[in-house]
Parts: sequence; structure tokens; C-alpha cells
Amino acid sequence: MSDRKVSRRHFVGGATAAAALGTLGITPEIAEAKIRRAAEIGVRRIPGGPPMLRAWQSQVDEYDALAHLSSNENPFGPSAKTLDAMTYAFKYSMRYGYPDNNVQERIAASHGVDRGNILMGAGSGEILEVVGLTYLAPGKKVIGVEPSYGQVYSHAAGIDADAILLPLEPDYTQNVERMVDATNRHYRDVGFVYVCNPNNPTGICMTADEIAYLLDNIPEDVPVLIDEAYHHFVEDPAYRESIEYVRQGRRVVIARTFSKIYGMAAMRIGYAIAPEDMIDEMQPWSTGSVNALARWGAVAAMDDTEASSSMLAHNKKWREQARAELAGLGYESLPSETNFFMVNLGRTVAPIRQAFRERGVAVGRDFPPMLDHLRVSIGSEEEMGRFMTAFEDILRKTSLMSSRGD
Ligand SMILES: Cc1ncc(COP(=O)(O)O)c(C=O)c1O
Repeated sequence: MSDRKVSRRHFVGGATAAAALGTLGITPEIAEAKIRRAAEIGVRRIPGGPPMLRAWQSQVDEYDALAHLSSNENPFGPSAKTLDAMTYAFKYSMRYGYPDNNVQERIAASHGVDRGNILMGAGSGEILEVVGLTYLAPGKKVIGVEPSYGQVYSHAAGIDADAILLPLEPDYTQNVERMVDATNRHYRDVGFVYVCNPNNPTGICMTADEIAYLLDNIPEDVPVLIDEAYHHFVEDPAYRESIEYVRQGRRVVIARTFSKIYGMAAMRIGYAIAPEDMIDEMQPWSTGSVNALARWGAVAAMDDTEASSSMLAHNKKWREQARAELAGLGYESLPSETNFFMVNLGRTVAPIRQAFRERGVAVGRDFPPMLDHLRVSIGSEEEMGRFMTAFEDILRKTSLMSSRGD
């Protein structure tokens, strides 16, 4: 086990770090010497001395040793071309008004909209909050389903607004008629409607027809936030990206992120696509604080279609393999159009999640009311292997298999 930990860290950290350091003209030998020297200095300088340094190191070791299947990240991180662009952008680290590789124009062009239709955010999480700050107020309501991406609802609660949370259907799809009905009934108080498409945590899409039905049957002045964080992964032919509604001038905000397929979650970059009047309404609430590395990296990531295609192929292969293996053990999972899936364990997942953690595998949190479903993000081949090994071990050691008659 410890051998695997070390070799995995060397493989992932080593290759990525070597690529980044190489671009800076630092050889591995120089890097090693610098790390040794930093450790020596750290021992002398950090108050409390070596124990504190060790505590910091053990935190890193613990994190790096985990299989990260809990937050729907790209296990490989940014592509080599994206890393190169970010390394280049370091030279602007001390600047404010630096060239940013025209990231906003490039994003706009990729969607066939104008620069004025784009609002940049430090992750799409910032965009979701900007929408809340713009269109909610104490007593105003966001309409959406549960479970979905909860940040929208918790942010609403934080600003004393309300959320009307509609249940999913028995097949875990979103019921668009119920959404329309709730919006019309609460029309005066509705700040906006939230549609996560595909939905996190289920991985299931609303179809293009359902989105059209929603927009055709609610008052035109009700803003609709469509969160397309996972749209790259979708293959369902009934699904369509909703940008056409922005082009038509409908009160629709689309949220996008570089955190998922592009592997840039820690870089914090996302954006909104919306009609210009909505961008003007939202702008005062936005910080615009996207860093230089993220801006340069984002352009390179969009251009690197080879890296995106290989990520998609990897994701599909390991998602479907894991789902098939789990089905072979008697555990059905929801069909997924994303880089995660939910498996039904037939019992509360919280203690099972702890058992995974003890085996070095981090899996998704609770998503009430789906407390019997475990959300699993697609990791590297090695991480997926560790997940399956842990799954079989945990289920053998609990009564889960026997209780299901396996
Ligand atoms: C549906 C959805 N929207 C938005 C986000 C926020 O992503 P970020 O702020 O990293 O762009 C996430 C992150 O997991 C997500 O799952």
C-alpha cells in the first residue's frame, strides 16, 4: 500500500512538476536541492520548529494519497498545453492591466455571441452567487429541484431569500411541468429558476424540449439560470446547450466552468453567457477577480481539443466499466451524462463513505433526500481500481451483500 502511495505521487506529481519546472529552466537536480534547502530553512524559521513542518507535510501526504472521487474533478489536471500557457502567464504575476490572451473575446467567439454577453467569474460558483445577489432579495424565491447543486440554495438562504425545492421524479429526472407550475404560482416572488443541466448529483439531463417547454410556459421576465458545468460530457441526442436562448434575448443566464473537463478547479475560472442587459444587471455584483494564469490557461484549454477528447474517452470508459462492475455485484446506478454517477446502495451511505475514507478513497457527500445513493466521480484508472477494490472489501465486511441476498 505504501509503495503504491509513493509511486503514484511520484508519477503524477513528478511528471507534472517536471513539465512545469522544465519550462522554467530548472533541472530536477536543482529542484531537489531547493526543496532540501527549503526544508532546512523551514525547520529553523517556522515557529514551533520541526513538528509544525511535519504536520504540514503530513497534511499534504494524506491529501495526495487519497483517491479523489468526491468532487467531480478531472484527475489529470490541466493539459500540457494549458500548463505551458499558465507557466508563460507567470510573467504577469505582479501586474494589474496585463494582456490576458483575449480570454473573454475567445469565449464569446466560441459561442457565437458578443464580448458583452460574457461575464467572467472566479469559477462558475461565483457566477451562481452573482445571479443570486442580482435577482434575489429577502423574501424572494429561487425555484429548483432537490437534490441539485446546493450552493445556489445555500447562498439564497444566506441572503435571507427562500428556495422552493421540488422533488425529482421516481426515475430521478426533473419534472418541468411542476417547475412551470411553481414558477407561475409564485410569480411575483420568484427571483429566478435554477436548472442544473445535466443535474449534479444525478448526472441526468433535461432535454432540449423540456427546456423549451419551461421557457415557453413561464412569464418572459422571470430569469432562468441554466448551469451547464458538465455539458461537455453529454452524449444524449435529446440534450442541447441553451445558448440559442441568449442569442434570442431571453432572460437566460448560462453558467460555464473550466473546473471540470479542463481540470482547472483550483485555478478558479468560469463565466456567464447572458443577454447584455442581464450582464449589466449582474456586473456590479461580480468581483471580476480571475487571475492571469487562469485566463491564459483557459484559452489554451479551449484550443486543446485533443486533450478534451481524450478526457471524454477516458471518462466514458471508466464510468461505464465501474457501473457494469457494480451491476455485476447487484448494485444498480443511475445512467450518467457526466464525469460522475450515483450508485444505489439500498441503505444509508454515510457509514459506507467513512469506510471508503479509511481505505484511502474519498467519495461524494450526502445528497438528501437520496441518502441511499453514493456519488462517485470518475478518477484515473488507478483510482477507479482502488474504488472497486474498496467497494468489494467494504461490502464483504458489512452485511450489505448478505442483506441483499448476494
Ligand atoms: C453543477 C455545478 N455548478 C457549479 C459548480 C462550481 O464549479 P466552479 O466554481 O469550480 O466553477 C460545480 C462544482 O462542482 C457544479 O457541480
